[in-house]
Amino acid sequence: MSAILEPVEPNYRLMDLCDLESIMRIENRAYQFPWSQAIFQDCIKAGYHCWVAELDAEIIGYAVFINAAQECYLLNLCINPTLQKRGLGRKLLTSVLNNAKEYNATCVFLEVRPSNRQAIELYESEGFNEVGIRKNYYPATHGREDAIIFAKEIGC
Ligand SMILES: CC(C)(COP(=O)(O)OP(=O)(O)OC[C@H]1O[C@@H](n2cnc3c(N)ncnc32)[C@H](O)[C@@H]1OP(=O)(O)O)[C@@H](O)C(=O)NCCC(=O)NCCS
Repeated sequence: MSAILEPVEPNYRLMDLCDLESIMRIENRAYQFPWSQAIFQDCIKAGYHCWVAELDAEIIGYAVFINAAQECYLLNLCINPTLQKRGLGRKLLTSVLNNAKEYNATCVFLEVRPSNRQAIELYESEGFNEVGIRKNYYPATHGREDAIIFAKEIGC
């Protein structure tokens, strides 16, 4: 992709099954323990909110979340590693929060690895607070890693 001049405003649209090849390329580079393609397929088929962010019609990131019973659960938020640290993750997260408000969610929840400093910095700077820990939740290189549960109240 050519160099991007800031500020840039991505286009957001619903994820389609035919996007999964591009998404898996990003997912496999962005995470040490990536989701499988089958997980994305299941999320789309289950009617979860699955969005892609595009620049110049190229997928540069995505978010998967659930709006239910006035709560939003953010399951995946990812920006192509080659385009990180340019404000795109914050923009994508803001779009998710705005959508959750439209669905009358009052709280957004997510889980993150304690080792994922960039994600934690993003969430904390957007007003998320730690509300719990799931012990040994994630696979890790050596054994398991906890998940920090973050929550942010919105819309009231
Ligand atoms: C987390 C993620 C979505 C952030 O996307 P991004 O486009 O790089 O984020 P932004 O450029 O919008 O930065 C937003 C904030 O995140 C934090 N941040 C981003 N990269 C960081 C880094 N390398 N180190 C520390 N903080 C970082 C900063 O607080 C930053 O704000 P600032 O630029 O004002 O300092 C991206 O790193 C990513 O896709 N990671 C891999 C997937 C992942 O771990 N997702 C989260 C799962 S819970």
